[in-house]
Amino acid sequence: MKISRIIFAIVALELSVNYAFRLADATLKDAFKNDFDIGVALNARQFSGLDPKAQALIRQQFNSISPEDALKWRSVHPARGKYTFDVADKYVEFGVKNGLDIVGHTLIWHSHTDPWISVNEKGEQLNRDEMLHVMKDHITTVMGRYRGKIKGWDVVNEAFNEDGTYRKSKWHEIIGEDFIEKAYEYAHEADPSAELYYNDYNLFKPAKRAAVVRLLKKLKEKNIPLKGVGEQGHYYLQTPTVAEVEAAVLDLASTGYPVSITELDVNVLPKPAGQLTAEVSATLAYDEKWNPYVKGLPDTTARKLAHKYSTLFAMFHKHRDKIARVTFWGLTDGDSWLNGYPIKGRTNYPLLFDRNYQPKRPVFGDVVRVVGK
Ligand code: GLA
Repeated sequence: MKISRIIFAIVALELSVNYAFRLADATLKDAFKNDFDIGVALNARQFSGLDPKAQALIRQQFNSISPEDALKWRSVHPARGKYTFDVADKYVEFGVKNGLDIVGHTLIWHSHTDPWISVNEKGEQLNRDEMLHVMKDHITTVMGRYRGKIKGWDVVNEAFNEDGTYRKSKWHEIIGEDFIEKAYEYAHEADPSAELYYNDYNLFKPAKRAAVVRLLKKLKEKNIPLKGVGEQGHYYLQTPTVAEVEAAVLDLASTGYPVSITELDVNVLPKPAGQLTAEVSATLAYDEKWNPYVKGLPDTTARKLAHKYSTLFAMFHKHRDKIARVTFWGLTDGDSWLNGYPIKGRTNYPLLFDRNYQPKRPVFGDVVRVVGK
């Protein structure tokens, strides 16, 4: 009796050590190598070499990178006639050096721009032609610099409101609805070999998704060379449901364009009332009650996170013929924008690697074991 117990304990120990070793070797890019690319959004510390542990983890786990901010308008084009590429060059250099697919994010967006883009030196609002000129100059200069190096670009980001109407950006206000077509036209001219994407959030919401589907069909009819559509994937533990995300994947894919989940994270913190979107300008005041896990994530919540991620990935795997890439919006929990948004100073746990660059239990293991289940 005793001996059999000892044998049982040894076998159990061996199995769990084996399992731990296998997990230590497991990588996201290998787990889904037959399905879709696995990307990660990088901050400047990471790609500039100030965070060597991050670089090692990126090389080990991912085959595609996106820049969190390095290629946004204000980063590369802070003033009229002034382009600054020092930081963006390092991002692209890191990708080229490590053989990673490089995503450009993003050219035409309502955010991360300053008022000068839509007025002249006297402060008067530009007319349509002048605004188109600003757009073309930006797209041509930024894309042209990285021609042949950046694989694909989020050309237009977040053009719609939640109800499916056009967002009232300066692009829309001054140019009109066809600002989107124009952006793709200029982008294709600037780098004919680059893949061009449309990117937006909350496409699990039917009204917003319908507007994007209409746009995709229109671009197809007009032979605009779009290559794919991105659903940002800023989710919460409870919402949206996996079924809602699946409906979005299927609907978007029904247009014939491959779908990517471009900015995946799962916010585990309580959601203050009314805060439902990923609209970056919506911020709220700090209160301790919104920051309950400063000392660590409770096991029950860690299990909910694992369930959310593994069921999402099981669904992505099921629809792998429609999905091109899944990109996490950040590398480790400590890097995530969700520690500062929509409330500054919180401790969030939205990603698959912890603040010490280690794969998180149980979520990482549950995700890499999705294939083959
Ligand atoms: C949006 C943008 C991203 C990033 C996130 C928040 O989703 O597309 O570039 O700014 O918001 O970090």
